[in-house]
Amino acid sequence: MKKLYIRTFGCQMNVYDSSKMKDLMAGQGYEIVDNTDDVDMVIMNTCHIREKVKEKIFTELGKLTKLKAKKIKEGGYMVIAVAGCVAQTEGNEIFKRMPIVDIVVGPGSYHELPDLVDEALRKQQFRTRDIKTEFLNDEKFDRLPVADEVKGVTEFVTIQEGCNKFCSYCIVPYTRGREYSRKPENIMKEVEALVKNGVKEVTLLGQNVDNYKGIDEAGNKITLAGLIEKIAKIDEIKRIRYMTSYPSQVTQDLIDAHKNVEKLMPYIHLPVQSGSDKVLKSMNRKYNVKGYLEVVKKLREARPDIAISSDFIVGFAGETEEEFEETMSLVKEVKYAQAFSFMYSPRKGTKGAEMNNQIDENVKADRLSRLQEVLNTQQLEFNKQYQDKVLPVLVERISKRNDKALFGKSPCMQSITFGCKKNKLKDFIGKIVNVKITEVSIRGLKGEMI
Ligand code: SAH
Ligand code: SF4
Ligand code: F3S
Repeated sequence: MKKLYIRTFGCQMNVYDSSKMKDLMAGQGYEIVDNTDDVDMVIMNTCHIREKVKEKIFTELGKLTKLKAKKIKEGGYMVIAVAGCVAQTEGNEIFKRMPIVDIVVGPGSYHELPDLVDEALRKQQFRTRDIKTEFLNDEKFDRLPVADEVKGVTEFVTIQEGCNKFCSYCIVPYTRGREYSRKPENIMKEVEALVKNGVKEVTLLGQNVDNYKGIDEAGNKITLAGLIEKIAKIDEIKRIRYMTSYPSQVTQDLIDAHKNVEKLMPYIHLPVQSGSDKVLKSMNRKYNVKGYLEVVKKLREARPDIAISSDFIVGFAGETEEEFEETMSLVKEVKYAQAFSFMYSPRKGTKGAEMNNQIDENVKADRLSRLQEVLNTQQLEFNKQYQDKVLPVLVERISKRNDKALFGKSPCMQSITFGCKKNKLKDFIGKIVNVKITEVSIRGLKGEMI
C-alpha cells in the first residue's frame, strides 16, 4: 500500500471533499496516514476565506520541500497536490511560489484526482504540472465513489455546491463556482451507503443549504425540508442536521420540519454577520435586522428549545462604532447558543476589498474581543440551562482523554464527555443514551450515563 497524508483546512465542505478524496485514492491502493513521514503523496485541501488561512498553507507546503527532496534522492517520489479553494483561485501562482507542487485541483473537479496522480507519476522527470479548475459538478457527484469503508457515527453529505450570493466580503462564489443542487437520488444513494457502514447521523451541507433546489427523476421539485423528510424515513438514521442557512431563505416548510420531523435536531446555524442594516446592505446580504429577528422568532415558536448559532464579521469596510454597537444589541436580543466571529479580511477580487473606507486592524481587534466576550457569556448561559438535566446523547466514540469515558453530542450540538459504569464501552458507540449533566463550561458538558 502507498501512503497518503491529507491535511484539511476550512469548512465542513472541505472535510467532506477530503473524505471523498480519501475514498478515491483508496481505490488506487493508497492508505491514509496521520503524518508526513515517508509518504508517497500529500494532499493539502485548502481554504481561502481569510488571508491568514491562506498564508498558513504556503508555510505548510514549504515544510514539505525537504521531505520531497529526500524521497526523490532515495529513488522514490512524492506527489504533492493542492486542492480546495486556494487551488481554485490561485492556480498557477501556486506552481510559481511552490515548485514542489505537482497537481492543482479545484473543488469542482477533484474526482479526476486518480488520473492526475497517474499523470504526475508518469511525467515526474519532466516536471510537467497539471492544473484542473473546472466546475464539473454533475460529473463529479456521479463519479465520486459511494462510501465503501467503515465510517464514523456521524458524517457530512454535501447536497449543494457553490454560491450565487456574492456577499461583498466573500470569496466563496469564486472558489466554488455557481450554486448547484445535487440530484436527490444521488444524495439518497450516498446516505444509504453510509447507513450500511453504521452511520446514524447525517449533516447536509451547502453554502446556503436552505436554498437547495433538487429535481428528482420524476421531475418533482424537492426542497431541503422535503429531502430531510425522505432521509427521516430511513430507520437506521437517528439524527439529521444541515448547514449553513441563509437567513432570508429559511422557508416555512423548513420551520415546520423543525416542529414535525422528530429526527431533525433542534439546532440551526444562521449567520447574521452584522446587526446593522447599513452594514448588511454594503455586505450585499439580502435581509435586514428585522427580517432576521422574525425568522428567529418563527423558529423558536416551532421548536422552543432550538439552539441558534451564527457567524459575525467585525470591522467590515466603513463599519462605525455605532454600527458595531448595533451588532452587540442584536446579539443581546437573540441570545446565541454558539457563534464564530472574525475580523474582516479583505479578499482580492471581491467588492469589499475595493471599498476605500477600510477599518484599522486595531479597531477590528478591539471590536472582536468585545463581541467574543458577550458571545462566550451567552454560550455558557446556554449550557448552564442543562446543569442536572438528562440529555439524549448520540455516542460518537470513546473519549480521547479518558478511556473510561464516552464522547457524543446533545440534540443542540453540545459536546458531552461522560462516564459510564458498564464494561465494554465500545458497545455504546452509535447508540443514543441518556446522560445526566453534572458539569458545564463554555466549550462543553460533562456527565454520567444513567
Ligand atoms: N455561506 C455561509 C458562510 C460561508 S463562509 C453564509 O452565507 O453565511 C463562513 C464564514 O466566514 C462567514 O459566515 C463569515 O462570517 C466568514 N467570512 C467570510 N468571508 C470573510 C472575510 N473576507 N473576512 C472575515 N470573515 C469572513
Ligand atoms: Fe459567501 Fe455570502 Fe455565499 Fe455565504 S452566501 S458563501 S457568505 S457569498
Ligand atoms: Fe474555506 Fe472554501 Fe470552505 S474558502 S470556508 S474551504 S468553501
